Amino acid sequence: MQKVSADLTRAGKSIGFVPTMGYLHEGHERLLQVARKENDYVILSIYVNPLQFGEHEDLEHYPRNIDHDLSVAKRNDIDYIFLPENKTMYPTPLSIEMVVSKRANVLCGRSRPGHFEGVVTILTKLFNICRPTKAYFGQKDAQQVAVVDALIQDFNFPVQLVSVPTVREKDGLAKSSRNINLSPQERSEAPAIQRALQKGKTLMQTDNPDIPEVIQETRQFLERETRGKIDYIELLSYPDLEPIETFDRQVILAVAVYYESARLIDNTVFRPGDMS
Ligand code: PAJ
Repeated sequence: MQKVSADLTRAGKSIGFVPTMGYLHEGHERLLQVARKENDYVILSIYVNPLQFGEHEDLEHYPRNIDHDLSVAKRNDIDYIFLPENKTMYPTPLSIEMVVSKRANVLCGRSRPGHFEGVVTILTKLFNICRPTKAYFGQKDAQQVAVVDALIQDFNFPVQLVSVPTVREKDGLAKSSRNINLSPQERSEAPAIQRALQKGKTLMQTDNPDIPEVIQETRQFLERETRGKIDYIELLSYPDLEPIETFDRQVILAVAVYYESARLIDNTVFRPGDMS
């Protein structure tokens, strides 16, 4: 893979790179489509990175369907698929560990210690292997986008980060590989997550919104609409992910909800005056 990407770079070709953990759905497919439009070559990586899973997380149960993934790649005219094994990515224990000191101690980073360290480690390896001109990430994982943005800036990766809007089901639920683990009842309640975010966003667009009150109202709305257990509801500046006292810049309102066999996340990013 490294030789292929080096040859392409030498030949002056642009490379679009879409890193994934497979079990591709329309969210991933959108990233592939945007990458296809914007680059000479597109590389898709499929690798379930053990380093970004916590001890009690769903690594063992992470869904896989490689035949389906290959057919998605084929119908989107993808040039290369990088499908490494664990022994290729981590042949020996790492001698150097990365620590994410900003943008990671909130939201999912707080609930999933070590997760973003695992993400930046694998992406550092994948960027060096695939040498992308542009790398594509979904806004559904907005914190991941913020952390990758910091990775690229801090370590001078010659990569342009492209963030692609969240692809949703008709009822507003963000597409996710984990949605198949919802019971029918949970599946019918889960679109409330997106509705709660929209409500919170609307509440923020009043004169001098009281941020703790908006969060409280959003929480109460969500608790009324679903029995899922709320992991967090937070409103922070974006992409810095710092707490704010006044609404005078771009912010993210983000939610995570635990269901029986799935933890779902969603978010909305907006500025003062954004009404839609
Ligand atoms: P994975 O969860 O497979 O997601 C791959 C990419 O698809 C991510 O950038 C994610 O934000 C995007 N994505 C997922 N659902 C989406 C949706 N509904 N709409 C738009 N984009 C969506 O994120 C990872 O893998 C890993 O952390 C990875 C970056 C590959 C590193 O291991």
